[in-house]
Amino acid sequence: MKEPVVIHKGLDNVYVKESKICFIDGEASKLFYRGYSIEDLAEHSTFEETAYLLIYGSLPSKQQLKDFENRIQSNRSLEPELLQLIRSFPITSDPMDVLRTAVSALALYDPQPTTEKIEERIDKAVRILGKAPTIIAAFDRLRNRKEPVPPRPDLGHAADFLQMLTGETPDSYDAHVMDVALILHAEHEMNASTFSCTVTASTLADMYSIITSGIGTLRGPLHGGANEAALRTVMEVGDPARAEDYVTKALGEKKRIMGFGHRVYKTWDPRYVILKKLGAELASRKGETKLFDTAVAIEQSALRHLAGSPIFPNVDSYSGVVFHTLRIPTDLFTPVFAMSRIAGWTAHAIEYLEANRLIRPKALYVGQTSLPYIALDSRAG
Ligand SMILES: CC(C)(COP(=O)(O)OP(=O)(O)OC[C@H]1O[C@@H](n2cnc3c(N)ncnc32)[C@H](O)[C@@H]1OP(=O)(O)O)[C@@H](O)C(=O)NCCC(=O)NCCS
Repeated sequence: MKEPVVIHKGLDNVYVKESKICFIDGEASKLFYRGYSIEDLAEHSTFEETAYLLIYGSLPSKQQLKDFENRIQSNRSLEPELLQLIRSFPITSDPMDVLRTAVSALALYDPQPTTEKIEERIDKAVRILGKAPTIIAAFDRLRNRKEPVPPRPDLGHAADFLQMLTGETPDSYDAHVMDVALILHAEHEMNASTFSCTVTASTLADMYSIITSGIGTLRGPLHGGANEAALRTVMEVGDPARAEDYVTKALGEKKRIMGFGHRVYKTWDPRYVILKKLGAELASRKGETKLFDTAVAIEQSALRHLAGSPIFPNVDSYSGVVFHTLRIPTDLFTPVFAMSRIAGWTAHAIEYLEANRLIRPKALYVGQTSLPYIALDSRAG
């Protein structure tokens, strides 16, 4: 007798590979990249070092880090043709569409986009990683009728992004907050966009196709868009005094509080803890505490209402407030998430390719068979 088919809708609890990249303990509020805690990485590492760690599997030596930083930096400027292409996009375009299209177009300016050699694949990924912030910042300036600002070799990845976006050198604290935010978003195990990259990698497609798949999947509101939605909620509430009314009404209407709940974390998201602390410092340094205080009031009210449930604040409850305070436009939050996650996507694609098997699941067919073909003229309607 045939075994009954089990359908794993959403692929919940389906394992597709063994991995040494990321471990999440959603019950104990723990997150590790390659064995290192997210708290240690946020405190001691940089985005470039974390990207190296994720992709190569171990912390770099001084020289390896310097070389890697140089590789990213030297890739940060855009080919004139690519900049020209970005100039041709409608200024009303969604920045995620711009990033997806530009990353895909990067393949056209690579004389050899396809390679099966792992080191060459990593080179392509570093090229994309280097250029992503420049693409995002250039488009934002163009849509505001300003000229793109070129990258600066003396700045790290996070600081250079802010510099290209605003045209001003960020102070060291802003650059540090941006850097930590990039570290926190760089990797998160087998989520939807990482799976998408893994599926594309399993066909032996090139790195441009792999990363483009990830960006396309991250674009959806169920994945990358929650940070924007969380900020919009905080802005709409607008004042700590209105938080309780908002939460009571929203939960009464069975609405979800954005920035709360997680498929994996059933307690505090450790990234939330780090971002909240940084957000508080950032807000007080800038003397702009109202938005932050409103987010705290929403959080406290939601925690009271949801007490006893496994619904806790996630990374997005404060990431939007932090990005907003860093003067990043709201519709760039998801592209910023993508420019950081390129590191994790690359690590997973490379790890999968080291023991590749084409991903080809099945669908249980429940339709009809052997229907007689009906000529067009004979069909009803
Ligand atoms: C992220 C998310 C999709 C994970 O959800 P999940 O683990 O699949 O849980 P479910 O969607 O099955 O929800 C389980 C229950 O918790 C409730 N719930 C989940 N998140 C909630 C939230 N943010 N606010 C209020 N209730 C919530 C659901 O309404 C559901 O209640 P019910 O059983 O009475 O219907 C969900 O928590 C959510 O939509 N959060 C808001 C968006 C967000 O912040 N996303 C960023 C994630 S990093």
